[in-house]
Amino acid sequence: MSESLTIKKGSIKEQYESLLPQIEALLTGETDSVACMANVAAALKAQFGFFWVGFYIVRNDELVLGPFQGPIACTRIKKGKGVCGTSWEKEETILVPNVDEFPGHIACSSFSKSEIVVPLFSSGKVWAILDVDSDVLNDFSSEDGYYLGKIVEMIPFNL
Ligand code: SME
Repeated sequence: MSESLTIKKGSIKEQYESLLPQIEALLTGETDSVACMANVAAALKAQFGFFWVGFYIVRNDELVLGPFQGPIACTRIKKGKGVCGTSWEKEETILVPNVDEFPGHIACSSFSKSEIVVPLFSSGKVWAILDVDSDVLNDFSSEDGYYLGKIVEMIPFNL
């Protein structure tokens, strides 16, 4: 595995295009889900400087906090609650340009202004979600959804 990360400047696309093969190299040969989620959170935080990047893992009827980078966060989220629980329930990526306008948004921090949540699938079922928060309004686009979707596909499911 590669143990250093090259941080790229440039457009969002250029940054993801630089990060993608590096994450692939980082995860190759590693089968532990938590180890892979931890390094993906760290790599995304290092490249983009997002306010909060992390995973919630499906445990029975709720999401439980997994590896993350950023300030402390709520530990459990019920299915259908908040952006994360809604992404799990709907089994789709959710882009929130302004968290104050998302009904039921769970505010782990008042600094968080926009958010994107991407589900992880195994055998057609959601087993975790990736949550990325920004302290800037409208900080994410479908381009983030596209690349983050590619990144989470690299994370192995072995829980
Ligand atoms: N805002 C999320 C909760 C998780 S924190 O942002 C880390 C939500 O509404 O589900």
